[in-house]
Amino acid sequence: MQRRVLLGLAGTLPLGCTAVAQSSAPGLRELARARGMSFGTAVRSEKLEADPILSALVAREADLIVPEWEGKWDVIQPERGRFEFEPLRAVMRFAQAQNQRVRGHALLWHEAMPRWLAPALAEGQSQAQQILETHITTVLAETRAGIRDWDVVNEVIAAPPGGDNPTPGSGDLRPTPWLAALGPGYVERALRIARQADPTLRLTINEFAVYSDTPWAQAKRDSLLRVVRGLLERNCPLDAIGIQGHLQMREPFRPEPYVAFLRALRALGLAVLITELDVREPDVLAPTIEGRDAAVAEYAGAFLQASRDGGVRSFLTWGLTDRDSWLVLEPGVARRDGVVTRGHPYDAELRPKPLRARLAQFFSA
Ligand code: XIL
Repeated sequence: MQRRVLLGLAGTLPLGCTAVAQSSAPGLRELARARGMSFGTAVRSEKLEADPILSALVAREADLIVPEWEGKWDVIQPERGRFEFEPLRAVMRFAQAQNQRVRGHALLWHEAMPRWLAPALAEGQSQAQQILETHITTVLAETRAGIRDWDVVNEVIAAPPGGDNPTPGSGDLRPTPWLAALGPGYVERALRIARQADPTLRLTINEFAVYSDTPWAQAKRDSLLRVVRGLLERNCPLDAIGIQGHLQMREPFRPEPYVAFLRALRALGLAVLITELDVREPDVLAPTIEGRDAAVAEYAGAFLQASRDGGVRSFLTWGLTDRDSWLVLEPGVARRDGVVTRGHPYDAELRPKPLRARLAQFFSA
């Protein structure tokens, strides 16, 4: 069906777009699968619906999709006890039509909280516990047939000074309304509720800023390992760790410490996947677009290679294109100089860039 829509539109599209969308070259999903890996991307259902070229691209390239927004609390439970699953169902329907798998994101996070949630959590531990349990069990009952891997907790590790969004003075866990309401056992609690609600679901802890060769990223890696070891010692169910992979080119990267960290996670019996790859360019840009794109591809390529050396087999980007990306739209993430960062495999006109070529090469090797 996608192909028909595309062909119908082809006459009205700029040349670059038609070439990409109609290309008969194998998509990344096919290349990755042939080598026992998988490739996926984050999507927004309304963007897929609005743009047949984008949806054809996602269908061709991705084996796995993850809702960028539709699985978060403020969408799913905008008011206490009122669950809204239609946006998530739209993503699941798209995936089913394209024979794609869906990852769920995220059952517990300190952002994208509906307005009622933090005050309700603060009312007391037993209420907070009940709210968590109701949300996880209701969501998993809804998605059981279509989603077999969920980020149960997202970004729960404290961020040491010097790095991204630091949380100074805290222990291994980030200070959040969840920690305040439920105490440090809340991660274990969420994982146990999820296991009980859906015993064969893959339970994932998803975390950011744990890749670079910096003292603060090393401290964060150590914290994550301590938290994970503690959970496993208490026989807490846990299957996988998601490394977000929001790369920042101003940060030094060296494979060794990162690969050692991935191997330590794998040695605990956990799968590790890259869940949200994209690239923020450095403050000082190369003078040409070609130079910038080559640098992005090179930086991401080193990360991809190290991730595979550490045992990663599933790779997802946080969107396929520079257009409407959070790297452009999100205050605090967007560049201060207003330049659109070129951190995705496709540019804002949906033309493939060297990062797409690097991914194809990576999945072919
Ligand atoms: C981002 C989305 O891309 C934005 O559109 C939204 O405004 C905020 O959240 N880590 C995560 C993702 O786990 O959920 C975030 O997604 C990006 C950082």
